[in-house]
Amino acid sequence: MNAISAVAGRRSLRAWRVLVLGSLAIAAMWFIGTRALPYFNVTDAQYGPYFWPRRWGLLLHVAGGVTALGVGIVQLWLGLTNRTAALHRAFGKTYVGAVIVSCSAGFYLAWTIPGSPAYAAGLTALCVAWAVTTSMAVFAIRRRNVLQHREWMMRSYVVTFGFVVFRFGVDALVRWKGMSPLDAQTIMAWGAWAVPLVLLEPLIQLGRDQGFFRVR
Ligand code: HEM
Repeated sequence: MNAISAVAGRRSLRAWRVLVLGSLAIAAMWFIGTRALPYFNVTDAQYGPYFWPRRWGLLLHVAGGVTALGVGIVQLWLGLTNRTAALHRAFGKTYVGAVIVSCSAGFYLAWTIPGSPAYAAGLTALCVAWAVTTSMAVFAIRRRNVLQHREWMMRSYVVTFGFVVFRFGVDALVRWKGMSPLDAQTIMAWGAWAVPLVLLEPLIQLGRDQGFFRVR
């Protein structure tokens, strides 16, 4: 590769990074603003009869989830641009702490979903995927394997983002396909994270082959 095409390649990689991470950040902000922050107003009216008996579990879950969504996107930006000094390490500990809190509360919420086993199983599997991908990212960096740490962090964030995809998907299936909310929730409880994880794999493979995630 000559010097000019190497510079052009770096520029287009930077443009893709800005586009992908920028779009994720906008969608995350929409979700946090419209669907998550209202739960910090802990009232009967806000939670409704479905969530009110499980309100403390949901509050803990949302607090951790908002932190993981926000900090995770900054972490990906810092990590993929090789800015891995003190700030990256501090945010990394915050992200993992937020996932531990939100994921534990997520298990509790999934197991206490009344009477919809396929929906509850999908969200339980999402919790398992969250715990596994995030733990693998931590184990990789403890072994100083930076390349694997990056790849597992991308998988972990795709899973973190699963609940945003879940909400978009449920709203779309109910509004445009006329599905019942429970059918839409059951489909999205599985599809919101399994499909994005499968789509991410070829990108990770391609990135590895092309040296996109090269460690400097
Ligand atoms: C990625 C792993 C996650 C899992 C496994 C998970 C699991 C769950 C479960 C089981 C429920 C209760 C659903 C019900 O009872 O019908 C729930 C609700 C909720 N979760 Fe999560 N969650 C995850 C991530 C997140 C994230 C990152 C946020 C960001 C703030 C979040 C925000 C919410 C909110 C706002 C609700 C209640 C309202 C709603 O259904 O939209 N979750 N989650």
